[in-house]
Amino acid sequence: MTSPRLGIGFIGSGFNTRFHMQAFRGVRDADVLGVWSPNAKHAASAARFARELDVGACRAYKSIADMVADPAIDAIWINGPNHARIENVEEIVDTVRSGRGTLRGIACEKPLGRTVAEARQLLKLVESAGIMHGYLENQLFAPQVVRGHELTWKRGAATTGRPYLARAAEEHSGPHMPWFWSGVLQGGGVLNDMMCHSVLVVRHLLTAPGEPLSALVPRRITGHIASLKWTQPKYAKALRQSSGVDYTQAPSEDFASVTVEFETPEGRVAIGEATTSWSFVGPGLRLSAELLGPEYSMRWNSLESGLDLFFSRAVKGKAGEDLVEKQNAEVGQMPVVADEAVAYGYEAEDRHFVRAFLGKEAPKLTWHDGLEVVQLLMAAYQSAEQGKTLAFPPRGLDKFVPAVAQGRWVP
Ligand SMILES: NC(=O)c1ccc[n+]([C@@H]2O[C@H](COP(=O)([O-])OP(=O)(O)OC[C@H]3O[C@@H](n4cnc5c(N)ncnc54)[C@H](O)[C@@H]3O)[C@@H](O)[C@H]2O)c1
Repeated sequence: MTSPRLGIGFIGSGFNTRFHMQAFRGVRDADVLGVWSPNAKHAASAARFARELDVGACRAYKSIADMVADPAIDAIWINGPNHARIENVEEIVDTVRSGRGTLRGIACEKPLGRTVAEARQLLKLVESAGIMHGYLENQLFAPQVVRGHELTWKRGAATTGRPYLARAAEEHSGPHMPWFWSGVLQGGGVLNDMMCHSVLVVRHLLTAPGEPLSALVPRRITGHIASLKWTQPKYAKALRQSSGVDYTQAPSEDFASVTVEFETPEGRVAIGEATTSWSFVGPGLRLSAELLGPEYSMRWNSLESGLDLFFSRAVKGKAGEDLVEKQNAEVGQMPVVADEAVAYGYEAEDRHFVRAFLGKEAPKLTWHDGLEVVQLLMAAYQSAEQGKTLAFPPRGLDKFVPAVAQGRWVP
């Protein structure tokens, strides 16, 4: 008999794995049982973290193949760095195809691949093994996005017409690990790293509940990238010291904006405007979105969290991220995101994909959606490089590699 519970193994033991592990406290029918990471100590530490959270009898495995081969592991959550996606998925798929292990599902973090070619290869690999796949995009599951989307459509759009403009932004002061800053390893700068969220959020908001994302057809795309902060000599030097990357030689963009013109099922235009930044110095990570229609609007800002603390200058303490992710200060008036794993959508996302892999509902996002996101991002880079709006899909998209990702972008 197939188990009614899902045993989960994580690839990667870093920042995002720990976010998901916290989220699993709110998922009833899954156990976090495994973690693999090239650094055995880090893997053991993440496994301990999961046990302390009481989300499962988690242990570290010696290899991805060992983890997949264990009958207790039913699904893999991929949280390795972007440059390891292909090798990670190849090892999973080899293990399954050789009959050494079986899986009910694989969930993969954003971005699915660093280029359209990589994303296509990943999709082909997972389909060759016949494994169900889910694309992890937490912001679509953020409670405010879910309720705002439902209610604007149910009340506003149902009576006065579909929305025509969606905006989304993700902004913070820069990534936590060196590999994110390297255009070659990560696949780009902030456009690749964070626009994947915002571009999908706008498309999702503009799409009716129950309608497929494909109902909204991307027709034209305009991308813009810039280095506003991190190529300034003072900040380039600080970055070289903290992360070992040299933005005087091979910079990545720290600002990106994308406008996508969609065609609605009625043949009208709907616009998605997204902007992302690694040069936003505010209290910490800020996620925001808006949806506008003929007689209604919604807006969301994750820093309007409902809890503010004030610390006078007499309060001395260590720098930390205990108030909010990517926190920038410890004194003054500070918003607190009380439960980030819930607020950013990880909990509802993990609950959904567990239910999907248990066969209780269809996955809301698959690697096909992940591929489409990569197509939009690469088209945005193409537009930014050419300095003009492009019809979507632009020519040469499948083979395109952004100049940033080749380490030869000149801002
Ligand atoms: N949804 C989100 O908002 C969000 C947030 C952060 C990261 N992410 C994504 O999650 C993934 C992980 O990011 P992170 O922030 O945890 O990074 P991280 O650097 O904190 O952690 C990466 C982990 O992968 C491990 N690793 C190193 N080489 C590996 C390899 N060859 N194969 C597998 N694992 C390897 C590292 O040891 C580390 O444990 C990335 O793809 C990133 O884009 C998503």
